Amino acid sequence: MYRVGIIGLGSIAARYSKPDDAYPYCHTGGIRHCETTELVAVADMSKERQSEFQQTWGPGFADGSINYYDSDIQMLESEDLDIVAVCVRGPHHFSVMQNVLKADIKAIFLEKPAGCSLEEVDTMTAGADAKGIPIVVDYTRHWAPHLIRLQTLIKDGLIGDIQTVIGYCGGGVLSFGIHTTDMICQFGGYDPISVSGIVSGGGDVPEPYEPEPAIVNATIKYESGITGIQVGNHGVRGGFSVDILGSEGTIQTGFYTSVSVQKDGKQVDNDTLDLPPNEGPFKIAYKQITDYLDGGPMPHCSRDHYTAVNEIGFAVIESAITGQTIDLPCQNRKRLIYANG
Ligand SMILES: NC(=O)c1ccc[n+]([C@@H]2O[C@H](COP(=O)([O-])OP(=O)(O)OC[C@H]3O[C@@H](n4cnc5c(N)ncnc54)[C@H](O)[C@@H]3O)[C@@H](O)[C@H]2O)c1
Repeated sequence: MYRVGIIGLGSIAARYSKPDDAYPYCHTGGIRHCETTELVAVADMSKERQSEFQQTWGPGFADGSINYYDSDIQMLESEDLDIVAVCVRGPHHFSVMQNVLKADIKAIFLEKPAGCSLEEVDTMTAGADAKGIPIVVDYTRHWAPHLIRLQTLIKDGLIGDIQTVIGYCGGGVLSFGIHTTDMICQFGGYDPISVSGIVSGGGDVPEPYEPEPAIVNATIKYESGITGIQVGNHGVRGGFSVDILGSEGTIQTGFYTSVSVQKDGKQVDNDTLDLPPNEGPFKIAYKQITDYLDGGPMPHCSRDHYTAVNEIGFAVIESAITGQTIDLPCQNRKRLIYANG
């Protein structure tokens, strides 16, 4: 069993789900359901959060099996951890990651948004590279079993060559819409070369940050010739869904929607697609991380993949501000956005 510690006991760590949820949407539930991980330590400076966690989740674990800490540093210095889940808010990612990267660990599961600037993310990635460990960024909707199965079917030519992927999701470019940015890459590829975008809104944020706008739309060009389009506002489809357009057919799907494949003008019977049953996305993500630690392939949403997604997110903002199409990698790596999701 791989030993996991969580930093930050908020919504995504523990509060979005309860112990009896079948498909828990939180780290604690995913670690508990994953057969290769055990939760051994948690850290939060809020005693209230620690005690809420203990009351809600404590009974779901063996007595005394989880150690509680008031700070990330205390936990990292006291525990022998394999995987650390960083579940604090975006503006705290960089400082917490500096502590995590000093610890003797094997993998990091970092919540989106990866960082508040490209420079922050570059530094984290270089730190992980120097240690030879992966960072996996949690674009959670990626790990729906039917979406992962579709990746294989598409690679095997289900709808011919992919030409266009349209993804639907508005909200903060880096904090929320980024889930769908990843989903567009999941089916369009992780080789973006240029981005143009339109955004709206902003608001007051603390110095020295700039506000995080909401995505209105974005166009992503890929090296492969595929075009990605993210529809932020007024899309007729629900969030976290995609239309995948190929040379021989189309697929409509999403995290919260089933799969509909049209080929040669006819509906494909889903029984022929061998779609897997539902499973919690966190359970699958943790299993991919431990499979990697056992010698398997890189987990999804690790290095080159989160780098591509993150470049797109920052390029959408850069494009909207400058009115230019942005060639990737973005030249401006210092723009500091208050991505507080
Ligand atoms: N993947 C998803 O679908 C999803 C959904 C919601 C949030 N998130 C992401 O998860 C992260 C956390 O968001 P949230 O809504 O759970 O936040 P939250 O405000 O509910 O919880 C954050 C917790 O971190 C604690 N904390 C802050 N700094 C700390 C430190 N240095 N050491 C220990 N604890 C510390 C706070 O006390 C708080 O309890 C964000 O990056 C957010 O974007 C992801």
